[in-house]
Amino acid sequence: MAKYDLRARIVENECLGGKYYRIRAHAPEIASIARPGQFCMIRPEICGDALMRRPFSIAAIREMEVLEFAYTAIGRGTRLLAQQKRDDVLWCLGPLGNTFPMIEGARAICVAGGIGIAPFPFLNYALNKHRVFPVMYYGARTADELVYLEELNQLSEKLILCTDDGTAGFHGFVTQLLERDLENDFQNVVLYACGPHPMLAQVKRIATKLGIAAYLSMEEVMGCGIGICIGCPIPGTTPEGEKVNYLCCKDGPIFPSSYVEL
Ligand SMILES: Cc1cc2nc3c(=O)[nH]c(=O)nc-3n(C[C@H](O)[C@H](O)[C@H](O)COP(=O)(O)OP(=O)(O)OC[C@H]3O[C@@H](n4cnc5c(N)ncnc54)[C@H](O)[C@@H]3O)c2cc1C
Ligand code: FES
Repeated sequence: MAKYDLRARIVENECLGGKYYRIRAHAPEIASIARPGQFCMIRPEICGDALMRRPFSIAAIREMEVLEFAYTAIGRGTRLLAQQKRDDVLWCLGPLGNTFPMIEGARAICVAGGIGIAPFPFLNYALNKHRVFPVMYYGARTADELVYLEELNQLSEKLILCTDDGTAGFHGFVTQLLERDLENDFQNVVLYACGPHPMLAQVKRIATKLGIAAYLSMEEVMGCGIGICIGCPIPGTTPEGEKVNYLCCKDGPIFPSSYVEL
């Protein structure tokens, strides 16, 4: 698949509350071919010595030509990103990686934790285009860290919120509620998940227990994003049962849960 390495002019960079941000940049070449689950390697054009690009899931495509990313400012690269203003420029390489598969006739359930919500506005929009309206389970530490709620409400059959501190929705982990709800009704379900490793491990366990398909968006620290530096290994198993190290950027970031060790 084609990929582009281009200068993308920032249209907007907005704090959504706390450490959560949303940035939009004009990149029609990438926007026109990107698919849900894919990511871009980005860095501000003026970045001092923070030269490494960072991977970010494509959160949405706006008006067919603007890429949107959701991010938390947690370290050097993302704090620098948070300082960028409208009309500043990002170096943007993408679209990279594979995509969430669309499974005809399946009941889609999406599971997000924290900034793992990032790929879901794009995925849910694409599912809607296939006439699939997913049930969305979305967990965060606290109510202030729940973002994209209005859009997710529109794109989902049902949006189910969970918080660790009980300030919104179910009081507890998103996977606790998911497991409870699925216990009696898991026919034809396919799970799509993105979030912290412990959450993905729980999704994998639930999927294995119930014998249902689950696709996980995996994260690994990345150097190149295109399979050259071998810097993003994900230990796993092939469908034939052989142990392997997948490359998160090239073989993923989306993996069937049975392929990866968590
Ligand atoms: C395919 C993919 C998609 C991603 N999509 C998003 C997204 O949409 N939004 C978002 O906010 N983040 C996303 N991430 C994670 C994001 O790339 C990291 O948060 C970012 O690289 C941190 O850069 P930094 O310089 O700010 O932090 P650093 O100063 O490099 O590190 C700060 C802290 O973040 C941790 N960290 C660094 N890289 C990662 C990583 N790749 N995954 C998890 N923790 C990391 C470090 O261990 C450290 O604790 C994605 C990662 C991958 C692999
Ligand atoms: S980041 Fe270089 S091989 Fe994956």
